[in-house]
Amino acid sequence: MWIIEAKYGQDDFYLNLEKEILSLIDGEKNLIANLSNISSWIYHTIPNLNWCGFYLWDKTDQELILGPFQGKPACIRIKPHRGVCGASYSQKKTLRISDVHEFQGHIACDSQTNSELVIPLIKNDLVFGVLDLDSPLRSNFTEEDETKLTYLMNRVSELIF
Ligand code: SME
Repeated sequence: MWIIEAKYGQDDFYLNLEKEILSLIDGEKNLIANLSNISSWIYHTIPNLNWCGFYLWDKTDQELILGPFQGKPACIRIKPHRGVCGASYSQKKTLRISDVHEFQGHIACDSQTNSELVIPLIKNDLVFGVLDLDSPLRSNFTEEDETKLTYLMNRVSELIF
């Protein structure tokens, strides 16, 4: 049984989140299982999310394809440069969007989404996909969320790809 110790807002939240997520994937080589548990864990620890999940790069189709997630059904395919996810993938950069309505080309899978944090999954300088977090609140994501989740996804990417 998994117990969530990480409590958002506490000083050690990201230390505990990292410990818990690394423990979740420890010894498991199945990518979909690992991504499923990671999306669930983040969805249940970071507040005010209406969607949390992965888009994975498909080399054959040359686009991002929907992977494990929590939330309402979402668009399945995203081309490079399109939307926040496609931009994060193409730029190899975490994008923290305070108001998605001000992001030109935002893809609105859920009309309730008002802010977004998208983090590329990078190993050996290759981008394997992105983690997408959506919130119904404007400016839901802090600079700490951006830096600490980017660090955590870098660690996870080294282990699971
Ligand atoms: N909003 C994203 C699309 C993915 S749905 O939000 C899950 C984007 O603009 O890329």
